[in-house]
Amino acid sequence: MKKNIVWHKHNINKSHRATQKYQKSCLLWFTGLSGSGKSTVAGAVDELLFEENYHSYLLDGDNVRYGLNKDLGLSDTDRRENIRRIGEMSRLFVDAGMITICAFISPFIDDRKQVRDLLDADEFMEVYISTPLEECEQRDPKGLYKKARKGEIKNFTGIDGTYEVPLNPEIIVDTTNHSPRECAEQIVNFLRERNIILENGGTQVA
Ligand code: ADX
Repeated sequence: MKKNIVWHKHNINKSHRATQKYQKSCLLWFTGLSGSGKSTVAGAVDELLFEENYHSYLLDGDNVRYGLNKDLGLSDTDRRENIRRIGEMSRLFVDAGMITICAFISPFIDDRKQVRDLLDADEFMEVYISTPLEECEQRDPKGLYKKARKGEIKNFTGIDGTYEVPLNPEIIVDTTNHSPRECAEQIVNFLRERNIILENGGTQVA
């Protein structure tokens, strides 16, 4: 606890906010290599939930680096700080009753565990986008693997930078033989099975 700072407990809590939205709030944490399909599948999950009137919000690697974390680079230290800040921000979104979706490489097991530990036991779901390096490198949507192979980018995840594969992810998605929509359906079905989204559907959008 910080000196002279006291946590203020407000009357409207997480459970009130989530119940109002006919859902339980949670954090879907996508991790995987660059080009694995994290952002695409995360975006498709967000869309599916929106279509069904649930309340979700997507925090995406590159986008967060344009604003909140624009002071951070891609060194291991900066990546740790990137994930720490996003973890704290995600906690606020979960507290707001949202189905929060994060898509970051987040290469280190410890950092992902740190985010998991910020939340209640059943709130954090690690989604491992397991697309193999060869496939990511072949896709190379931003041309970054090519640059990394030429030595123009250092510490590139999967080439000369570490990626620690999740040991016990709640969901594993391989995008190699499935469309983003199919992968998203797999994840949304999981949310249904876990009673994160409730059968009577989300709140109606006016
Ligand atoms: S993380 O490692 O800190 O979780 P994050 O997901 O925010 O990474 O951002 C990764 C994005 O930065 C990649 O999608 C890629 O476009 C870009 N990038 C730039 N340099 C690197 C690098 N050295 N390794 C991986 N991605 C990089």
